[in-house]
Amino acid sequence: MNERYSPDNLWRAYRHCWFVVARSCDIDTPKAARLLDHDLVVFRDKSGRAQVTDRRCIHRGADLAAGTVTDHGIQCPYHGWSFDGSSGMCTHIPSLDPSSPIPPNARIGGYRVVERYEHVWTCLDEPFFDIPSPPELDGLDLEWRPAAPIPARCGFMAATENFRDMAHFPFVHKATMGNVPSAIPALDVKRDGRRLSVSFQYDQVEQAHFSSIGNAMMHYHSYAPGFAAILYDYGETGKRYLVDFPTPVSRTECVIHWGVAIDSQFQGGTIEDILKLETAVFDEDTPILEGLTPPEVPLSGGWQEVSCPADIYTLNYRRAVKFVVDTILDRLEHESAAGR
Ligand code: FES
Ligand SMILES: [Fe+2]
Repeated sequence: MNERYSPDNLWRAYRHCWFVVARSCDIDTPKAARLLDHDLVVFRDKSGRAQVTDRRCIHRGADLAAGTVTDHGIQCPYHGWSFDGSSGMCTHIPSLDPSSPIPPNARIGGYRVVERYEHVWTCLDEPFFDIPSPPELDGLDLEWRPAAPIPARCGFMAATENFRDMAHFPFVHKATMGNVPSAIPALDVKRDGRRLSVSFQYDQVEQAHFSSIGNAMMHYHSYAPGFAAILYDYGETGKRYLVDFPTPVSRTECVIHWGVAIDSQFQGGTIEDILKLETAVFDEDTPILEGLTPPEVPLSGGWQEVSCPADIYTLNYRRAVKFVVDTILDRLEHESAAGR
């Protein structure tokens, strides 16, 4: 076992990474979420700003997901305490005489929030890396659709890895992708820190729902620990984009947040068609993911696995995850040694 990548250490590092906790379209009323075994509530306050706070009220533990949004925060459904969404500070206690001060420790956690790709992102601690902005999206005018999130009984790295694994297509996705050749060409995977990419030609397969508008160049681009995207470039018939950001809920559960986008040239159907197609593909993946043993990528070892050349992308993904974890833990250890 490599204790450096023990589950506790991974959780410590991932608190400093951005993850998606909801779709932007789902938070007009407070919505419960769970990230790294931490219960959260996600909501849009009355000023229109997305907020993420602890789900548990600090007074007597009521569920803030059943609360009411205020101008800049949320009000508890039990005794009406109000909390500011950004700082988490209690701003009003209805039972308190107005001349009495609010106890200074009456606060809940309030977390950083960014809305990007039609999703709400949060980070439980100081972020070490930005939310990815893949350069291939620069200058593209894309129409986006966030997909319905998929809860899966597997670790989020296993789900992220699945998204960039190509050798499973002819077995798991025969119904949607058709008779994809099983041999994987030598892949020129490039990794730079936490980023990795590979491009290859995807030839149209007869009868496949997946490729009805012709051959495409597929550009895979991933950022550890939980961002994976594919740009399908069909040349004159346009481009489409598929993006996947699984969220670690617990050590053995994740929620696969994902979405699709097309550019204005795209002639392979409407954005709804693409969403439906990719939903069918994800529905083929989930039962496989939920059958994995162990349910998460065994980054610290302890399980025998045998890899082959087709796994080069996933092996590089694991290296990229370790790069992220090492970068964060090294700095945390350095700061702790320096007494900060
Ligand atoms: S439990 Fe939330 S105000 Fe009392
Ligand atoms: Fe798949």
